[in-house]
Amino acid sequence: MEPRQGPHHEGPRVSAAAGGDPASPSGVRLRTIALTGASSGIGAALAAELSGPGVRLALAGREAARLEEVAAACRGRGAVVETALVDVRDRPVLHAWLAAVDAAGEVDVLIANAGVSAGLGPKKVRERDEDVRRLVEVNLLGAIDTVSGLVEAMRARGRGQIVIVASVAGLRGYPAMPTYSATKAALIAYGEAIRGWLRPSGIAVTVVCPGFVTSPMSARHKGSKPFEMPADQAARIIARGIARKRAIVSFPFLLALGARLSRLLPAALSDRAFEPFAARIERDPRADVDGRE
Ligand SMILES: NC(=O)c1ccc[n+]([C@@H]2O[C@H](COP(=O)([O-])OP(=O)(O)OC[C@H]3O[C@@H](n4cnc5c(N)ncnc54)[C@H](OP(=O)(O)O)[C@@H]3O)[C@@H](O)[C@H]2O)c1
Repeated sequence: MEPRQGPHHEGPRVSAAAGGDPASPSGVRLRTIALTGASSGIGAALAAELSGPGVRLALAGREAARLEEVAAACRGRGAVVETALVDVRDRPVLHAWLAAVDAAGEVDVLIANAGVSAGLGPKKVRERDEDVRRLVEVNLLGAIDTVSGLVEAMRARGRGQIVIVASVAGLRGYPAMPTYSATKAALIAYGEAIRGWLRPSGIAVTVVCPGFVTSPMSARHKGSKPFEMPADQAARIIARGIARKRAIVSFPFLLALGARLSRLLPAALSDRAFEPFAARIERDPRADVDGRE
């Protein structure tokens, strides 16, 4: 069993209205959750899973139409929802959004989920330089900047939870996706580090390591995807881990265990164990239309 941090809250934590925090029609303080990468895949499913009466969701993404669809579904489940178009590579905009969300009602849970994928090119040629930079900028720097946007506010009030979405590919490097694996391994290390730093301040840190989850990202992964699961199932697992304030939420169990155990094997054996999982990662169509590339 993974270690737990702090008190155990199963469901949404709703306490009496306080300060300038937003209140539901019944007058109770709303539990505020801020989530990046909410417009698609795991983030969209997680937003829906976390929705309900007593919950305020601040959802960020880049694609307005998809983000609004997600927001409408969450409102249908009883949540108070606001949306923002934020590129996590734009730190001033990211921090301004987080500060505004927090000023309107203190953020209880901050989820850094936005991410992109890329891998080796056709015939296994090396990764494109622009993909390498985009991966590091979005997956690693974007997540760290998301955390840094709120961590001092959480420290000042002595409560909060930070959730970082990494990957099983960060537990053991995945040969088809070298830089993606590196960004996720770095996020796991970052999450471990800040967990120790923030525990005395009353802030829990949860690092999520999903295996293969059905989404537009995984649809571009052409190869074996053992134990692939639907996004709503992954969202239920992640939401449960968040509610229990788990330090690490890695799933599916066998894939995460295999990734961890393979690190204990001699390198040649470990490499051989990964050969059946060779894959081709299709280019992300959004990477080409992105003005930054
Ligand atoms: N699917 C899997 O098998 C799997 C496995 C392990 C870990 N993960 C991780 O889970 C997270 C979500 O992945 P997913 O499968 O749901 O992928 P997805 O369907 O492609 O969704 C990615 C989300 O990240 C957002 N995003 C991408 N670049 C961004 C940027 N520069 N600024 C702000 N937002 C940005 C996207 O927003 P727009 O679409 O609006 O641009 C979208 O909401 C990622 O961190 C991923 O690495 C996924």
